[in-house]
Amino acid sequence: MSAFSTDIRQAALILESGGLVAFPTETVYGLGADAENPAAVANIYAAKGRPSNHPVIVHVAPEADIAYWAASIPTQAQTLMQAFWPGPLTLILKRAAHIPDAVSGGQDSVGLRCPSHPVAQALLRAFKGGNGGLAAPSANKFGHVSPTTAQHVRDEFGDAFGANGLIKAILDGGQSAVGIESTILDLSRLAMQGPVLLRPGHISAAQIAAVIGSMPSLPDLAAPRASGTLAAHYAPRTAVALVASTQLEAAVQQLHRAGRRIALIRYAAGLSIRVSGQCALPATPDGYAHGLYAALRAMDAIGVDLIVIEAPPQDSAWQGINDRLRRAAHDSAGILERLL
Ligand code: TXA
Ligand code: MG
Repeated sequence: MSAFSTDIRQAALILESGGLVAFPTETVYGLGADAENPAAVANIYAAKGRPSNHPVIVHVAPEADIAYWAASIPTQAQTLMQAFWPGPLTLILKRAAHIPDAVSGGQDSVGLRCPSHPVAQALLRAFKGGNGGLAAPSANKFGHVSPTTAQHVRDEFGDAFGANGLIKAILDGGQSAVGIESTILDLSRLAMQGPVLLRPGHISAAQIAAVIGSMPSLPDLAAPRASGTLAAHYAPRTAVALVASTQLEAAVQQLHRAGRRIALIRYAAGLSIRVSGQCALPATPDGYAHGLYAALRAMDAIGVDLIVIEAPPQDSAWQGINDRLRRAAHDSAGILERLL
C-alpha cells in the first residue's frame, strides 16, 4: 500500500509541476496533464500528434466542485452525475470563464468525467489536494487504437518516457475493465438541441434516457468537435475489414487463394478457419469491449495483409463497439475487393 501511495504522490507532484503522466481509468488509459496549465496541455497535443483545436476531457475527483469547471449545471447533468458518476460517462457542459481555452480547443464548453478506477481516483485526490482537474485524452498516438494496459502505453510512445521524454511517468492499474472510451453526452446546447450523444459507449443511450426521461439525439453539423467522432479513428496500422459471420469462411478462403495473409477476430467460437493469427472475443458486449483493443493490437503486431473482423450483432447493446469497429475499418473501405 505504501509503495502504491508513493507512486501516486510522485505522479501528482509531476503533474503539479507541469509534467505528463499516463494513468489507468476503467475505460482506457489516459495521458494526463494539469487542465489549468496551458503549456502542460500543449505537451499532450505534442506527444499525441493531435491537432490542437480538438478538446480534451477534464477528469475530476469524486468530491470535485463541478461549479468550478462549468458555467451552469442543468438538472439533467446533476441527475446523470448521481446515476453514473464515478463511471464511464463524459458530460459536455458550458465552460466556466476562467477555464483555459487549451482544454476546450477554443470552444465554449468543457468535457467533464469522474472516473471510477481506484488508481485514477487516488491520483485525482492527491493532485492539488483533490481540487484540480486532469486533462486526459486516451494515451495513444492520434487516430490509433486506445491503450487498455500500461504496456500498450509503453508500446505506443516508445522512447517518449522518462526524464528526457515528454511523458514523465506511467501508473500501472492493470487492464481497463470497460475497454472502450466513455460515452460522451453534450448538455451544453440543451435549450436548442436537447441532449446529444456525441460518442456511444458502455453507458447506453437507453440508460441515459431512463434517467433523464428523453432519448439523446445523434450529433448534427453544429455539434461540438470531438476527435473520437471522426470517421477514421481507433484504427490499427493494418487494414481492417468487417465481414458478416455467414460470409466469414468464404471470404477468408478467397483471400488465401489470392495469397493474402490474414488475422481474424471472431466473437463466437466454433469456427475453425486457418489464418496467420486469430483471437476469439466473448459473445457478450461487455466481454467483447473489454478485450477488443488488446485483440486489435495483437493482430496488428503479426504483420498480416488484413485483419478480418467478424461483424458483431447490430442491436443497441453493441452500439459503442460497432461505432469503434466502423471507424477502425473506415480507411480500409473497399479493401476486400482490392486484395482479391
Ligand atoms: O474514456 C475516455 O473518455 C478516455 C479516458 C482517458 O477518460 N478519454 C478519451 O479521451 O477517450 P479522448 O480525448 O481520446 O476523447 C475524448 C473525446 C474527443 O473526441 C474530444 O474531442 C471530446 O471527447 N471532447 C472533449 N471535450 C469536449 C468538448 N468540450 N466538446 C466536445 N467534445 C469534447
Ligand atoms: Mg482518443
